[in-house]
Amino acid sequence: MRSRIISRAILHSTISGIRIFVPAAISIVLYAGASSPASASVINPVRLICEYRINPLGIDETEPRLSWQLESLGRGHRQSAYQIVVSNHKDFPVAGNGTLWDTGKVLSSKTSQIKYDGEPLQSGSHYYWRVRVWDEDGSRSQWSSPAFWSMGLLKASEWRGEWIGRKLLISGSKESNTVNPPAYLRREITSKDSVQRAMLYVTAMGLFEIYINGKRIGEDIFTPGWSSYNKRIYYHTYDVTKMLLDGRNAIGAILADGWYAGYVGFIPKGRSGRKRRGLYGDVPALLLQVQITYTDGTTEIIASDSKWLTSSGPILKADILMGETYDARMEMPGWNMPGFDDSDWRKISSIRVPHAKLRAYPATPVRATEVIEPVSVIKLDHDTYVFDMGQNFAGRIRLTVSGKAGDKLTIRHGEMLRTDGTLMTENLRSAEATDTYILKGDTEEIWEPRFTYHGFRYVQVAGYPATPTQKSVTGIVLSSALPVTGRFTSSSDVLNRLFRTIMWTQRSNFLEIPTDCPQRDERLGWAGDVQLFSGAAAYNMDIAAFLTKWLDALADDQRSDGAYPDFAPMPFLLQEPSPGWMDAGIIVPHLLYRIYGDKRIIKRHYPSMKRFLAYLEGQSVDSRLKVHQRAWGDWKEVGQLTSRDVIATAFFAYDAKLMSEMAQAIGENSDADYYSSLFEQIKKAFMKAFVSPSGNIESDTQTVYALALYMDLLDEPFIISAGNRLLELLEGNGWHLSTGYVGTRFLLPVLSQIRRPEIALRLLLNQGFPSWGFFLNNGATTLWERWDAYSEKAGMRNLKNTSFNHYVLGSVGEWLFSSLAGIKAASPGFTDISIQPTVVPGAIGHVRAEYRSMVGDILSDWTVKGDTLRLQVSIPTNTRATVRFPSSEPDGILESNMPLRDGDGVLSIQIDREEVTLALGSGSYDFKTKLPESVLLTRTPEEFHVTDINPEPAVPWQ
Ligand code: BGC
Repeated sequence: MRSRIISRAILHSTISGIRIFVPAAISIVLYAGASSPASASVINPVRLICEYRINPLGIDETEPRLSWQLESLGRGHRQSAYQIVVSNHKDFPVAGNGTLWDTGKVLSSKTSQIKYDGEPLQSGSHYYWRVRVWDEDGSRSQWSSPAFWSMGLLKASEWRGEWIGRKLLISGSKESNTVNPPAYLRREITSKDSVQRAMLYVTAMGLFEIYINGKRIGEDIFTPGWSSYNKRIYYHTYDVTKMLLDGRNAIGAILADGWYAGYVGFIPKGRSGRKRRGLYGDVPALLLQVQITYTDGTTEIIASDSKWLTSSGPILKADILMGETYDARMEMPGWNMPGFDDSDWRKISSIRVPHAKLRAYPATPVRATEVIEPVSVIKLDHDTYVFDMGQNFAGRIRLTVSGKAGDKLTIRHGEMLRTDGTLMTENLRSAEATDTYILKGDTEEIWEPRFTYHGFRYVQVAGYPATPTQKSVTGIVLSSALPVTGRFTSSSDVLNRLFRTIMWTQRSNFLEIPTDCPQRDERLGWAGDVQLFSGAAAYNMDIAAFLTKWLDALADDQRSDGAYPDFAPMPFLLQEPSPGWMDAGIIVPHLLYRIYGDKRIIKRHYPSMKRFLAYLEGQSVDSRLKVHQRAWGDWKEVGQLTSRDVIATAFFAYDAKLMSEMAQAIGENSDADYYSSLFEQIKKAFMKAFVSPSGNIESDTQTVYALALYMDLLDEPFIISAGNRLLELLEGNGWHLSTGYVGTRFLLPVLSQIRRPEIALRLLLNQGFPSWGFFLNNGATTLWERWDAYSEKAGMRNLKNTSFNHYVLGSVGEWLFSSLAGIKAASPGFTDISIQPTVVPGAIGHVRAEYRSMVGDILSDWTVKGDTLRLQVSIPTNTRATVRFPSSEPDGILESNMPLRDGDGVLSIQIDREEVTLALGSGSYDFKTKLPESVLLTRTPEEFHVTDINPEPAVPWQ
């Protein structure tokens, strides 16, 4: 018998004609299998996920969280109860037959993050689950289609293999650009017939590709991924049942340096003594086991051991930053097939690796997400061609070529062209980003590198034997394969292009870890960039699992004194971490809680977050933080420098505030009180130290006002004056921003907060320097690292520090969804939603944003024609939304062409002068209303238009 406390059943009640929601806590004892009327429910569970993924294999969460979404027609539908059944039998529910968890009917509206609480889960087992739900009238749905997950190896002792590899053959100083040739590994095995299931568990210190009988396993790239290898190493699980043949089978692997043994990050000048590669280890190593269960119940484990053989092969070199060299003449046809003559292969070596815990890979790996074709090919000289892919991206090319054996193609990658049409590679710094292919002389040879990637738009191919066509090169776009959750379109071409550009920049950099850029010798998980951009990123894609994984790296590399690192994983120390960067350790878990309702991320990192707050407190003097002068500050701001101390103290306060919310969410109430009074203390200190009696904040930059207003650091009377001062600063700057990474993140939300969203829109639609429009007008297809990276007139600036594919200034993408379309979570995980579009008719006539939240699809679509606003919204089943929009005649509002009235999903109507606030149940609605004069007369960007007072940076060509 199980008893359950029902979380929040939602009841209706009526107070003076307005229907409102009353949350009620009900405690009820239920029995497994309790039944209820089987009349068809109007809601149906779909999109079942486990630990944020569809049917994940090899997880190691022992209480995995299950979630689903609900589909329904009509309006106002809610889930009143659910039942989950988990079984280790594929065909179920079969009562009593392998049922490991049957929740019975649980009276709850919860659809996400439901923790498995059944029989203990066993290593290597598969679990199948279904859910059925009851609607608001108590009618029951059908069982959902089954979903499943499988467990990984939960105990270290279950790993039977040893780390194997090929000892270094080359000697080379780590200072010179030498790279290990990847190792080829193989072993033959004999399998009995009647395999019931065969699972492969595999990892490497380095990168691996695995084959069984010549077929590549999975489509994942850069496995096992990048972690702090000396603390944690991820393994991957694949179901290889169908790949094993009766009798002889061959397992083959290719093992490359990757982040483990290859080049990582940048090399500060003048520090020649520093290791440039092999930051975690010198020799890559593989660890795997195939676990076979036969139909007769017997099992067999084939592991990485001394029976494996190794050889070099056609890949002569492979490195993430440097590139890959392939000599097709050295191919070994059949090397990964049974029966291959491996008599000249060497015995494998056992390799020492760092002591790290083995954990299941918790996210979706990198994959090829799109194939693109060049838009043009230009001949540079007799055998050198430049292909323009039309889009800056992260990935590599697939080459198609024919020629003589020994012909050699050198393929370079770059983001821009010089004026003479050649490839600009200065901004790659020491990353060679060069692939080489040596032909074997077949009629048509097709090749794509395996263990490298580049950030590029242009490809320069030298040595092309014949005239290439546009089909000779195709672009393979690589990215962590995250589901897209956001779509945005509008009547503004600038905004549509901006959204597309932000998406491409995210795709290019959400690649295994959130990198700052994909092209130069850096590609590090800079924490400031992550925390500043993650709000935008979360609208665009489902980043839950991706950032869960990254937070492990951040926590793994937390210093013993509690400071989080500036970037994670952190294979080398650069300098003391900076405010705004290390605070990602608080801001990112809070974001995952807010967007996905994830409390486990809070619990998991809670001790580490407390240590970080304690570190900040230890560093503070009178509740203020003083920071080192090499701190990053606002970073890449234009002309106006913001005090690092102001930024540091602001983030200190913000951390305390978010920490208090998170403590409360997990029931740590006394901590919640402590952090909330810490916040008040820091706020006082901030006021005292940085705010003058007239309300000026130290530095007097756009950034300080944006930070102080967003983070609630000002006492009442100073809030208005700060807003006004911010407007003055913007006006004085020709309605242009002057903010860097930090200030830009908060600027537009604050303009909405002070009810001047039209100015936010003005900044967004600006064309002159500095602005996003300036990027787009100068040919950007991904966002740049700096506002002044390039202009068509002046050329490129400061190439050693100029990436043309840097997502952080795309933090503004959040405003498109949260303010312009107005979709926000009103409670963690979007179970309550707020839709409040920003309607500025003179500036923009149409906006449509769709967001697939954790609990279902949300739509906000508005159009202004003449003086009429049409707003269409969709609210997911089982949620409710507060929708607010301007209206001049609230009595005349139409909904689906009928006068708006209470009922049919509309739960309440409130009228406050020229604004209408509706409480809506789930479903789609279509409102029409006349707009008030005050909105119609809002100043438009055209009226704001002043000549760009900031001259474009005039710098010589570099
Ligand atoms: C990176 C940034 C990062 C910064 C730290 C740069 O090299 O590209 O995005 O945040 O260093 O200031």
